[in-house]
This record gives sequence, C-alpha cells and structure tokens, in this order.
Amino acid sequence: MSISPQLFDEIDPAPRLLMGPGPINAYPRVLRAMSAQLLGQFDPQFRQYMHETMALYRQVFETANEWTMIVDGTARAAIEAVMASLVEVGDVVLVASFGRFGQLKTEIARRCGADVRVIEATWGTVFTPAAIEAAIVAHRPKLLALCQGDTSTTMLQPLEDIGAICRRHGVLLQVDATASFVGTPLPVDAWQIDAVTAGLQKCLGGPSGAAPITFSAEVGERIRRRRHIEEGLQTTGYVAGTGTRINSNYFDLAMVMDYWSSAALNHHTEATTMLYGARECARVLLQEGLAACVERHAQAGGAMVAGIEAMGLAVFGDKSHKMPNVVGIVIPPGVDGDRVRAAMLHHYNIEIGSSFGPLHGKIWRIGTMGYNARKDCVLVTLGALETILAAQGHRVLRGAAADAALAFWPR
Ligand SMILES: Cc1ncc(COP(=O)(O)O)c(C=O)c1O
Repeated sequence: MSISPQLFDEIDPAPRLLMGPGPINAYPRVLRAMSAQLLGQFDPQFRQYMHETMALYRQVFETANEWTMIVDGTARAAIEAVMASLVEVGDVVLVASFGRFGQLKTEIARRCGADVRVIEATWGTVFTPAAIEAAIVAHRPKLLALCQGDTSTTMLQPLEDIGAICRRHGVLLQVDATASFVGTPLPVDAWQIDAVTAGLQKCLGGPSGAAPITFSAEVGERIRRRRHIEEGLQTTGYVAGTGTRINSNYFDLAMVMDYWSSAALNHHTEATTMLYGARECARVLLQEGLAACVERHAQAGGAMVAGIEAMGLAVFGDKSHKMPNVVGIVIPPGVDGDRVRAAMLHHYNIEIGSSFGPLHGKIWRIGTMGYNARKDCVLVTLGALETILAAQGHRVLRGAAADAALAFWPR
C-alpha cells in the first residue's frame, strides 16, 4: 500500500487576541519587517543592520554599554548565556526568587555548576533592599540574579537600590527583565546593573526567539578572560584567554561578542529574520518614546485592574508592587478557571493565562502589553470576561467594568 504524502493546510492562525502574560500579538510593522528576504550574515548590509540593532537597544536599555546585542533564542537563552559565561564551577550565585522565574534562574545557575543560594519571598510579595543586602552579606556571592518582573506572580521587584548595594559588596548584578522590559522603567546605567536580559514577546511587541542583552565593560572583561575560540574558527596568532573555558559553545558570550564585533567571528548562523524583528521592535518603541510607552502600559494596566475590581473580582498579591502590564485575578470560589478560559477562547477568540505552581487553578493572568496595551483590547477583554462569568452562573456587576476602565482615557 502506498502512503500518500500529507501536506496539511497552509498556516492560517485564528484571529486570536492574546491577552495572557505573553506572548501577545506582534506589532504589524514587526511582522512586516520579518517577511523581508534573507541576507547572508556577513553581507555588508546585514552587518549594518546588526550595528544599528546594537545602537537601537543601547537607547532602549538606556545604557552606554558597548556590549548590547541580541542572543538568538528565547529570553532564557540570554539568561543562560550570562550565567554560562560568568559563572565558574563552585562560584556562589545568590538568587532572589519571588516566583517561577526565580526558580528558573536557580535551575540554570545549578546547571552551570554554581553553588546556588536562594532567598525566597512569598509568592505575591517582593524583597526589601535590606533583605537582599542581608543575604549578600550572609552568602558573599559572586553574582546576584533576580527578575525585575516575575510574570508568574505579577510582582515587580524595585531595583533602584539593588545595583548600589551590589557595588558596595563587590557583587555582580544580573537582572531578568523579560516580562517588564519597556513596560516599566529600567535605566540600566543609572541603576548600576551589570547584565540585563529581555525577550521580544512581552512589552516589546514581537515574537519570542530573540533575546536582547546588555552588559557592562567589567562583565565583558571577565568574559573575555575566558575566551577560547572553537578549534575550527581559530586564526593564526590566536591566543586563548587565561580563564577557564566556558562550558557551552552556543552560549559562549566571548565568541558571541567576537561575532557581533568587527572581529566578525563566524560563530553561528544568524537568525536573520529574528534580527529584523528585534530591530523593528526597537524602532517602533523609540518612535513612540520610551516614557510614552511606559505611560501607555500604566494606563492600560491601570484600566484593566479598575475594570476587574469594578466587576467584583479580587486582584492577586501586593498591589503596591504589581507589574503594570499584567494582573493576577483571583478565581472566585465555585468558578472553574479553565472552563472560563476555554469559553473566552471559543466565543471571543481571546486568550488569557492560567498560572503555575502554588497559584495553579487559583488565579488567571491577563496581560496588557506591547501592541495590546490599548483601550479596545482592555474593553473587549473585560466585556468578554464579564459575559462568560455571568453565563457560567457567577454573579458579577454588569457594565461596571467598562465604565471603570474607560475612565482611564480622556473622553
Ligand atoms: C520573567 C521571565 N523570565 C524568563 C522567561 C522565559 O522566557 P522564554 O520563554 O522566552 O525563554 C519568562 C517567560 O515568560 C519570564 O516571564
């Protein structure tokens, strides 16, 4: 019997409105940029795009760091690249964890062979600077790693003071800003942060798969000391660094730095299309203006919270430390959270998020970010949630959510 080849259908996604904690719908301009034809990675025009991307992201990160690039991979690729390139086996790494993405950094640091010490804040809360300083004094780490915003709990860790504390104690500071980047301020140089990583799929309004990264000259020097270029790429006169070789090839930032610099090391084949997307995300953002983008997220997020509360639902966690771009909503007793999410998707084409670990089944998470940090997205999501809850027999105040949310925009 011959097997006929199956072609399936052309990709034709349903017109979903992605209102979860990320990914969200991409800016149309970003998708258009990503449909451009490919270039070779050493084509002069493509090298120019790479340099422009570095310059654009320096503005986005508010930094003068030369080492501002894109790591090919989702946001965790950049987190892992920093750890793999900085941490040597046995180094003490302190992770200040207040949710699932703190746990992720713990896991990555352990895989890098670090002696990982973890301090934990109850999910729904953040750390005081004093608590972080006390842990630094107790554990004397080489590196402190933490999230700015942890989407699993929707909490936002204030970072203004943490960089200065780390400098005082000679500790490097690594911040995972994946979920909060450009939805809330993060002036990297002013806050003295040594390494920051992000992703495109949240407030930057692109697809996941490219991870913006910036790190200081000091971090760059430390990584350079571990520079061991792979055998097939060494040129005559090559001298290896004096430090230990980085235990990953793909995440070897010493080679990635050479790849982005004028050395133009042929380390990996650039994800050309992702670079187009990352570059356009930054251009969309900078045209709007960083401050205006942060303000738009505060407005849309504030409206969403007001609407949720007006409906009679409760917001999860310490509201004074909530991320502006995502809200956790306590699932009322007797309501089947997954059934509500399924109905939102089925009837309205709207995706909202569930949650992880101790919060599983207890909260929904709704994001208002990037392209979707808009009045119409907020209003339609609130309207849909209200109708679905009522249809499933839960008593909600009808009409109050839209009124409360609308008040966030000038009439
Ligand atoms: C705070 C934070 N860190 C890291 C990640 C991991 O990102 P990715 O799935 O792009 O690897 C996420 C994803 O949601 C996140 O919210």
